Amino acid sequence: MPDPEELLYPTRTERVEDRRKERQQRKLVDEFFDHATLLAVGRLINQGQFQSIDYPISTGKEGGVFRASAAGGFRAVKIYRIGNTIFRHVPPYVIEWLRREVGAMGNTSRMIYAWTRREHTVLTQLRSAEVRVPQPYACFRNVLVMEFIGVDGLPAPPMQEIVLQDPEAVYADLTTQLKRMVVSAHLVHGDLSPYNVLVLEDRPVIIDVAQAISTNHPHARELLQRDATNFARFFRRLGVATSPKEFFEATGGPELPAEMAS
Ligand SMILES: Nc1ncnc2c1ncn2[C@@H]1O[C@H](COP(=O)(O)OP(=O)(O)O)[C@@H](O)[C@H]1O
Ligand SMILES: [Mg+2]
Repeated sequence: MPDPEELLYPTRTERVEDRRKERQQRKLVDEFFDHATLLAVGRLINQGQFQSIDYPISTGKEGGVFRASAAGGFRAVKIYRIGNTIFRHVPPYVIEWLRREVGAMGNTSRMIYAWTRREHTVLTQLRSAEVRVPQPYACFRNVLVMEFIGVDGLPAPPMQEIVLQDPEAVYADLTTQLKRMVVSAHLVHGDLSPYNVLVLEDRPVIIDVAQAISTNHPHARELLQRDATNFARFFRRLGVATSPKEFFEATGGPELPAEMAS
């Protein structure tokens, strides 16, 4: 028979745990949903993009991705934090692009809005080239609404976090997607890793494309080579017979202009 007191009052550990959760929740709300972001979310809700934000799928220094509910199903909502931390991880060639985009009057929030818009634009370009990426639905200020990649409301895991059933098939599929990115969309991802590829029903879906650059860019070749080296190692560990050179060739690398002397 439990102590009747315990039925009425949560135990001390439960209270501590509740307070911890509450603090964590508040921290999340404070960090992401500053006034401007709340207004942006409100605007997107008014537009009918989604009805509510359900929970964070992933949060990091630069932003977070949330599951949201809409009338027709789920959406993924990516929110970039208004602050300068994101630019610490952004390579100089992207900063150059942002400065040009935003102009001399650009402040940090404008640069973040331009960055968010860029992710929306790149996703649109990749969809037209039939590369498997989330469908972008809308973007307003630092908030991007896109297709939710998942099954039964559960987000698809990044490739790094699961055991692939058929690594050979995923390899073939991923290199095909990446080749389309180079040959049809004329873009190089620029931050390709098993964390930026989700696996949905055994098939790869490429995400996190804001830093993608044109295949004409002087760094394009070098970036693809770097990603090819990392991914070749990843797939070799899973028993796929490949090499950085093979991965680079399978993804359209040879079509890129030779590196320019800088
Ligand atoms: N469209 C999506 N559907 C489901 N989960 C997503 C989607 N986009 C991102 N995620 C989840 O959020 C994480 C972070 O997203 P990502 O775009 O890589 O942002 P970051 O810049 O934080 O790396 C991903 O690893 C993935 O787990
Ligand atoms: Mg990422």
